[in-house]
Amino acid sequence: MKPTFSLILHALQGLLLVVVSRAYTVISDDALTSIPRPGEDFDIKNGKLLSPILQPRVPGSQGSTNVLKHFVDFFHNDLPQWKVSLQNSTSKTPVTGNKEIPFVNLIAARDPPWAKAGEVGYLTLVAHYDSKRTPEGFIGATDSAAPCAMLMHTARSLDEALTKKWAVMHQAGIKQEDYDLGLEEHKGIQIILLDGEEAFDQWTKKDSIYGSKSLAADMEATFHPALSTYHNAISSIHLFVLLDLLGEGTPTPKIPSYFKLTHWAYQNMATLEDRLRAQSLLLSSPNHPSRRSTSNSGRIRTNSQQLKRAEPKWFWDLDKSNDRWLGGLIEDDHLPFMARGVDVLHLIPNPFPTVWHKATDDGEHLDMDTVGDWTILVTAFAAEWLDLDGYMDVQTTKKRAANDQQAGNMVSKTEL
Ligand SMILES: *[C@@H]1O[C@H](CO)[C@@H](O)[C@H](O)[C@H]1NC(C)=O
Ligand SMILES: [Zn+2]
Repeated sequence: MKPTFSLILHALQGLLLVVVSRAYTVISDDALTSIPRPGEDFDIKNGKLLSPILQPRVPGSQGSTNVLKHFVDFFHNDLPQWKVSLQNSTSKTPVTGNKEIPFVNLIAARDPPWAKAGEVGYLTLVAHYDSKRTPEGFIGATDSAAPCAMLMHTARSLDEALTKKWAVMHQAGIKQEDYDLGLEEHKGIQIILLDGEEAFDQWTKKDSIYGSKSLAADMEATFHPALSTYHNAISSIHLFVLLDLLGEGTPTPKIPSYFKLTHWAYQNMATLEDRLRAQSLLLSSPNHPSRRSTSNSGRIRTNSQQLKRAEPKWFWDLDKSNDRWLGGLIEDDHLPFMARGVDVLHLIPNPFPTVWHKATDDGEHLDMDTVGDWTILVTAFAAEWLDLDGYMDVQTTKKRAANDQQAGNMVSKTEL
């Protein structure tokens, strides 16, 4: 009698909570506007987040250690509620003889505070932090220093909203039992910064993605307690979003939809891109008010003279009328995860940036408006996936966004 009664009670509570918190909500315009731009933290000379990554960081080098320390310090100091772990491996490479080169991946995760291990499904945002050995002094700003900085800013921008959402859920009486009954799902976020993506010599299956291969195997072998929702660490990844080669502004980055299975996520990205463009929140747009107010000759145009230029579209492949999926043709860090059944959204432009693997892929060649815009878009996508609408700090962030926008305008004007 008693167990049955309490089970019914739990089921009823569960049903209520389903209504309160389960629905996937499209992020509101207000929340979209409130997402802070990275601003001066992305300054390439002394910005807090980006500039420390803009140094050669070949696996095993001092630069690599410096950059890893930068990440660890950032989470430790700015995001103390994130659980950070390092996953280590070593490997020989074709150009370093018998020496075992160390590879260190960083995994930072934030779970609902009450959730048991093995009960959290993650949105997993990924970029590689190592840089290529050649050409000498290679910085790899789009490849992938800027994507790493984007993910740091995304993590920081969502942190407070996650705290608030989980506090509200906790007050509403959410308990582990509701999840045990399958009436709720835990959603968490994971940032993975991978080492050893680049080949040491020529790209081959063996000489590339050292960190990713090791991490995927490790996560597959890391088992959660019996009867967990997710039986091992790799199955906890709900969606693996890989950012690579982002930050060049011209030509406009073109992102194909690579995988049929994750076209739903691509569609969400495309919709958010459209909405951000419609609200003039993307500074790289040629139609952004900061650009449109001045003509090529520097003369101020009146409103009626303003010609609207074709609005670019990064996620152009929305309708996917053909059934040709390029997934798998581009070899990258997602492969070892995909081979183990993980769903992948690959955010890599096709064609690659013009600076790809050239000495010119440095801080000076980044388009900072584009870098900031990518950050906003990825943050919006994550906020939506994590159901954070209503928890984003619309008041204070609105002010911050306005300030950043002003700063952005100033930059654009001096450029013209
Ligand atoms: C992994 O490597 C890092 C950096 O070399 C080191 O600080 C850390 O203790 C290592 N972790 C493990 C689990 O061995
Ligand atoms: Zn590369």
